[in-house]
Amino acid sequence: MLSEALTRAESLIRTIPDYPEPGVQFRDITPLLVDARALRTVIHAMIAPFEGSFDVVAGVEARGFLLAGAVAMEAGAGLVPIRKAGKLPLPAASVTYSLEYGTATIEAHDDIAVGTRVLLVDDVLATGGTLVAAHELVETLGGVVVGTAVLMELTALGGRDVVGDVHTVFTG
Ligand code: PRP
Repeated sequence: MLSEALTRAESLIRTIPDYPEPGVQFRDITPLLVDARALRTVIHAMIAPFEGSFDVVAGVEARGFLLAGAVAMEAGAGLVPIRKAGKLPLPAASVTYSLEYGTATIEAHDDIAVGTRVLLVDDVLATGGTLVAAHELVETLGGVVVGTAVLMELTALGGRDVVGDVHTVFTG
């Protein structure tokens, strides 16, 4: 059961019907982000199971960045941005994965030492394709993924089945 503070934070996530296309229920976390107390609460909840077990946080563009930076600062860890294709000057690894329609590619620089302990962070777990690809990307760079923390899991889309062990604060 969620604590009172987490229940309050969850209530600040807004659902917007038919965005960005008809039939999609978009989970908008901006009302949560703007609330300092709620933001702090969810960042602590994302870190809690992994306290002391990671050296850097790898956050997935774009909304994952909003949480990954805060998680890294709060945990005293470093930050690795996982970017969409074409945004980095020195991509050392890239992974292409399937979307509902078409494909997407993510990339990262080779700025971590082999064996670096990495916590993967994103805002939403939907089909799981993004986090599976991010995991592969980090391992290609020599990092060791010690955990995955996501703010919200959309259970109906079955992402947990493909991502495996993932810590999610809210389900929707
Ligand atoms: C969203 C979300 C996750 C991903 C989850 O990113 O932020 O990264 O989809 O979907 P999946 O589990 O089906 O892979 P998206 O690229 O849509 O948008 P953003 O750039 O606004 O973060």
